[in-house]
Amino acid sequence: MKQTATWLKTADSVVVLTGAGMSTESNIPDFRSRSGWWQQVDPMTIATPEALEGNPEQFKAFYKARLEALEEAEPNRGHQIIARWEERGLVDRVATQNVDGLHQRAGSRNVDALHGTIHAIRCHRCDRPHELDAFLRDEACVSCGGVLRPGVVLFGEMLPQDAWQRALKAIEKADVVLVIGTSLDVYPVNQLPSVTGGKTVYINRDIDQSIHAFDAVHQGSAGEILEELDRLMEA
Ligand code: OAD
Repeated sequence: MKQTATWLKTADSVVVLTGAGMSTESNIPDFRSRSGWWQQVDPMTIATPEALEGNPEQFKAFYKARLEALEEAEPNRGHQIIARWEERGLVDRVATQNVDGLHQRAGSRNVDALHGTIHAIRCHRCDRPHELDAFLRDEACVSCGGVLRPGVVLFGEMLPQDAWQRALKAIEKADVVLVIGTSLDVYPVNQLPSVTGGKTVYINRDIDQSIHAFDAVHQGSAGEILEELDRLMEA
């Protein structure tokens, strides 16, 4: 841990890459842990364009449940530490697979939302933006009558290319990449840690045996480990 704190302190450029484990301390379930969303439902039946087109009612019910889970959620200590590190000039960017907006609400400014944003509602057919309430009330698109959907990336869809390019470039040239709270199961984001020439650090509650390509691995909760690193950097 001391070594990681030293890398962070002496780095010119640090990029943080996060996944759903970053938000579980805000009481939002992740996907693949025992209490994760994908333990209850097969993502291929719900988080694909085919699912949205073939069974829009089931699709909308799932994303409404996700939005409901977010209603009371607040950024946690981990989000806040990362935002503070950015304010102090320590962190350059946050690239996240999370669609919950909690990094931004904690105060992080340079956030690349690689899997989109759940609150940005648009028409699946013509892309016209709509209010969140229109989605919650099951309304159709006012322009073309299409189904409304959250602006998240579904399996089989392209990632937002501007966010992807920004994250890719920043990670390539970073001195340290902190990868936090992700199973690294999902392509193409799971390729990002390997594109950097800098040090790679993995912080996660569960450590899979296949995780061996990191310079440092810290097992535990994101909030706890970020607090410890913050303390070590102050020391
Ligand atoms: P996963 O659910 O696959 O992985 C979350 C990881 O975070 C797990 O390995 C947990 O052990 C770990 N974790 C949970 N709580 C933690 C905590 N408090 N501190 C540290 N680690 C913790 O979620 P992602 O890797 O983000 O995409 O999943 C990637 C993508 O798969 C998601 O963006 C979503 C999903 O399908 C789409 O829907 C397209």
